[in-house]
Amino acid sequence: MKKNFHLVRHPLVQHKLTLMRKKTTSVTEFRALVSEVAMLMAYEVTRNLPMTTESIVTPMERMRAPVLKGEKMVLVPILRAGMGLLDGMLQIFPSARVAHIGIYRDERTLEPVEYYFKASKTLRGRDLILLDPMLATGNSAVAAVDRLKGAQPRSIRFMCLVAAPEGLSCFQKRHPEVAIYAAALDKKLNSRGYILPGLGDAGDRIFGTI
Ligand code: URA
Repeated sequence: MKKNFHLVRHPLVQHKLTLMRKKTTSVTEFRALVSEVAMLMAYEVTRNLPMTTESIVTPMERMRAPVLKGEKMVLVPILRAGMGLLDGMLQIFPSARVAHIGIYRDERTLEPVEYYFKASKTLRGRDLILLDPMLATGNSAVAAVDRLKGAQPRSIRFMCLVAAPEGLSCFQKRHPEVAIYAAALDKKLNSRGYILPGLGDAGDRIFGTI
């Protein structure tokens, strides 16, 4: 497996992803499953966040106890499919900040076009988790990380559900230091830039725009 690519093999994640892949899975089920998988993957994605300790008082005595080190983390969904992962992540990190980045894929060139960016001015020094269910060509994720790096965060992680080999290699060429977390590495892209076997258009399946 490539360096900095983490496949989350947990049985619950794998089982739920299979349900999501099925053509017959309804929008209601799909939406719930994306949230559940995001929650489960949150543990892996944040496994190596820096820690420190603080002094607290339990009902029994004072102790030094572990806490996350630094500013609140920032979740960055790539609109619109990335929004599907946001709810589950916010269940686990209720105080996380959210930055939105709107990038669509030109259907003809498959190139990314940024149309929206709204983030707190204080991304500097923070840990960012970029969210997009599908790492297909990799162009949108690369463009999003290009943009986020300009804000000088402490770290950037990328979380997706399904990655294509083409997208993985494109992303890792440009941003080798950004850790990628995925539930599956699929076979390949088709001529329209969709992942095979994949799960179809994640945005359409989350929002019912099929
Ligand atoms: N985006 C999707 O939603 N699905 C794919 O297969 C590729 C890109």
